[in-house]
Amino acid sequence: MTQANPPASARGPRIAVYPGSFDPITRGHVEIVERAARVFDAVIVAVGRHPTKPGYFPVDERLALITASVAHVATARVAHFTGLVVDFCRREGAAAIVRGLRATSDFESEFQMGLANRDLAPDVETVFLIPRPEQMYVSSSLIREIAAHGGDFARYVPEPVAAAMRARNAQRQGST
Ligand code: COA
Repeated sequence: MTQANPPASARGPRIAVYPGSFDPITRGHVEIVERAARVFDAVIVAVGRHPTKPGYFPVDERLALITASVAHVATARVAHFTGLVVDFCRREGAAAIVRGLRATSDFESEFQMGLANRDLAPDVETVFLIPRPEQMYVSSSLIREIAAHGGDFARYVPEPVAAAMRARNAQRQGST
């Protein structure tokens, strides 16, 4: 047994970072948190800043909504980071970055990001988890678009998110 691969008893808890925009967190994201929690000792759901995506919910609200949505996962916690995800992983002592892989269309960008992250931090593995087929086509922007046009978005998001989106829609309608 090499030092790079110590026995489970000799190492600390296996921590995974699940980074994303989570704007908002979806049921598909929650499923990935649940799956990651079965594999790792602890999962940090980490809200990062995507360079080109405008925000829908402010980061503080996203953090609160994620906290409420993953409250049933005892080993999950929620954080916000700026800068590189691999630097955040190192600060937290995380062994892995978890990403959900929904369809082949995700693959190219995830592959690129996974390779870049490995080049920056060879000690941090990227682990891809696959959600249930029902979640494959869902994304945060799709849900935002359905909501913007008055469609039924509630089945795609945890209840706290649905409530926050309804409140936001009502506020917008009130102000027009
Ligand atoms: N269920 C539903 N939707 C899912 C999903 C799932 N299981 N998994 C991903 N998605 C959706 C998201 O809703 C999002 O949809 P949108 O584009 O419509 O908003 C899309 O897939 C991808 O988003 P997400 O997983 O949140 O990733 P991201 O690309 O928005 O976030 C960061 C990227 C923040 C993790 C990344 O930019 C980052 O790490 N930034 C920090 C800088 C850095 O280190 N960069 C990498 C080095 S090159």
